[in-house]
Amino acid sequence: MKEQLLKLNEQAKEQLAKAFDAKALEEMRVKFLGKKGEITAILKQMGGLSAEERPVMGQLANKVRAEIENAITEKQNAIKRELAQKKLIEETIDVTMPGKKIKTGHAHPLDATLEEVEQVFLGMGFDIVEGPEVETDHYCFEALNMPKTHPARDTQDTFYINENVVLRTQTSSVQIRTMEQRKPPIRIISPGRVYRSDTVDATHSPLFHQIEGLVIDKGVTMADLKGTLELLMKRLYGEETKVRFRPHHFPYTEPSAEVDLMCFNCHGAGCPMCKQEGWIELLGAGMVHPKVLEGCGIDPEEYSGFAFGIGLERIAMGRYKVNDMRLLYENDVRFLSQF
Ligand code: DAH
Repeated sequence: MKEQLLKLNEQAKEQLAKAFDAKALEEMRVKFLGKKGEITAILKQMGGLSAEERPVMGQLANKVRAEIENAITEKQNAIKRELAQKKLIEETIDVTMPGKKIKTGHAHPLDATLEEVEQVFLGMGFDIVEGPEVETDHYCFEALNMPKTHPARDTQDTFYINENVVLRTQTSSVQIRTMEQRKPPIRIISPGRVYRSDTVDATHSPLFHQIEGLVIDKGVTMADLKGTLELLMKRLYGEETKVRFRPHHFPYTEPSAEVDLMCFNCHGAGCPMCKQEGWIELLGAGMVHPKVLEGCGIDPEEYSGFAFGIGLERIAMGRYKVNDMRLLYENDVRFLSQF
């Protein structure tokens, strides 16, 4: 019996050396130490031993059992440790590794410019209103004191949907719609798309954007117009910015003016950016014509007002030093990502 037990111990050691996973170890535990295992089988023979031998064998059996059990547990722990170590190494995170950059978009230069213009006017108490792009002849021309013979109404310049419906050539149509709907005091800007039958080149596009402005109140003068536009230009181009008013003609304003900005590139000296003029034409403006006011049911004896129309592309191109308008519409990310 003693030999059996010692042999069993040897066997267990041999097997243990070959057991490399939890499953093999569990099988060993059942085989050697289980209820139907080898040690139990040996102990069943105890009955045949003498009274002196019995406790000696009992002791030895317990010792072998404990040895095998400890050895199995130890190996189990070793395997667990090894697994944990392996996992730690495999899952190492290098916190110093640079992260993956996520590309985020940003506002288009035209939108960014419009947003800035809107902020300036909102700060001065203006509302932002919208008007339709498909417009009647009445709102686009007639009510703005532009007679049938006016050159802008020529089919060469205007996209006609039918005889009375056009794609608006100017946001000035919103002036009329606003004066019909609101009572003075009125203080609005109206940004939006306009359409003209132009051939595409560096400074022309059949679709572009304007921002219309309209102020109607008692006692509004040309000085208010000048102050308002000067403030806008200073906000957009810096405090040293100078603007210049030139006499002009628009059928819906009297007097009318074109407003130029001192070239931000050469400061008036003349350069390719301003075509050697020193000034860049930015917008049309004037005091709203009494006939236009009357047509909208506003008494020109009581109220006066100013209006202006700015080309958004012009402002954006100036601000971002873009020399070809087409770049603004092509949506080439190589261009857009520069801003
Ligand atoms: N509508 C003009 C244009 O498209 C711009 C303009 C000039 C708007 C004078 C106005 C204005 O409101 O008073 O060129």
